[in-house]
Amino acid sequence: MAGTDDNRRHILIGVGGGIAAYKVCSVIRHFTEAGHDVRVVPTRSALNFVGKATFEALSGNPVTTDVFDDVDEVAHVALGRQADLVIVAPATADLMSRAAAGRADDLLTASLLTARCPVLYVPAMHTEMWEHPATVANVVTLREHGATVMTPASGRLTGADTGAGRLPEPDEIGLIGDLLLDRPDALPYDLSGVRMVISAGGTREALDPVRYLGNHSSGKQGYALARAAAQRGAQVTLVSGAVSEPGDPAAVDVVHVDSAVQLGQQMQTFAKDADVVIMAAAVADFRPVNVSGSKIKKGADGPSPIQLSTNPDILARLVAARTDGEIAAETVIVGFAAETGDENGGVLDHGRTKLARKGCDLLVVNAVGDGRAFGTDDNTGWILAADGSETSLPYGSKTLMASRILDEVATLVPHGEGAPDASG
Ligand code: CTP
Repeated sequence: MAGTDDNRRHILIGVGGGIAAYKVCSVIRHFTEAGHDVRVVPTRSALNFVGKATFEALSGNPVTTDVFDDVDEVAHVALGRQADLVIVAPATADLMSRAAAGRADDLLTASLLTARCPVLYVPAMHTEMWEHPATVANVVTLREHGATVMTPASGRLTGADTGAGRLPEPDEIGLIGDLLLDRPDALPYDLSGVRMVISAGGTREALDPVRYLGNHSSGKQGYALARAAAQRGAQVTLVSGAVSEPGDPAAVDVVHVDSAVQLGQQMQTFAKDADVVIMAAAVADFRPVNVSGSKIKKGADGPSPIQLSTNPDILARLVAARTDGEIAAETVIVGFAAETGDENGGVLDHGRTKLARKGCDLLVVNAVGDGRAFGTDDNTGWILAADGSETSLPYGSKTLMASRILDEVATLVPHGEGAPDASG
């Protein structure tokens, strides 16, 4: 988003007192570089981790913690009221407890009470604290109050311990924040208990020890789906081919694969226990018949040393496995189609033909070519459903598209209206 006056928004970043406070500096940068007005409101204990001068320099705005600072400007009311988005990161157990109880004993909690915009809590704490019934109850309360509470990442925590409770990466917080600015209701906690397996990225078909046949897929759409689904409460496994994403999404189990055959095997395995299967990967239709154990030499003139055979159609096989009873009949299967249109029909004509041929429940159709779709941040398209309905996806970020695709998916999942639960 460019920083024009039209899209300049007011972002309030509340910082809790945790070691992850240093990572929030990159989140502040994300929003100031997009041209937004950022106000940072740390708790007093947050300033033990990052100094006020750092927050002031990064945001370009004054920083206060106390309701009694700038009383003439009534800051404790004004900051929350004028915000278009509030992000609380790291949201510590204590801060979420105070916010859930409606306390207003510092500038941040007072601002949270006056904010009427989307509020995003990004928890970071030790696993025991995240799993404690008191925290679980506070998270439920905050969600009931309309806030989005991210499910934290798993990984290295402060000290030697690892587990759930790590602050998601700043890039990911930025993407989720951008999504809520575009669409405040993009992340309802409505997929709790839904098991999803999503494929993403491009496959690589080995030719020899140094070369492969690949494609331009960045994996952005599949990763955006996995990220948004996990933050809506789904239990997500992401089967990832080659991508240009910086890291694994928070709260998602990621399985990395190379070839179409490997991707197909993993999808078949995880689809057996899934309620929803989404094939967003760009799968190579062909692979070399032989993988040379040594580097293929140019050699003399003669036939090309590369002969290709056809890869399995993974999506069609998943649909067939559902028909054969290998995977549950009620499993929702979603495919993607990247189409250019040609003399035989437009993008949507090809999409409808493909939906019928693959037999899936939903097909997301993107127009590709001329720099569209592959590797870009934004996209547009349509969702075609097996019942003949058609939903157009307005131009926007792949994260925004993911949220709309998941809205359609949620209508097809029998238990998609799960009760909120903090453990995700
Ligand atoms: N797909 C798959 N296995 C393949 C090829 C594609 O599962 N071997 C999936 C993709 O993940 C996507 C859908 O099928 O969800 C459509 O992919 P696309 O490349 O558009 O279609 P193809 O089946 O390859 O058909 P065509 O090349 O004729 O357009």
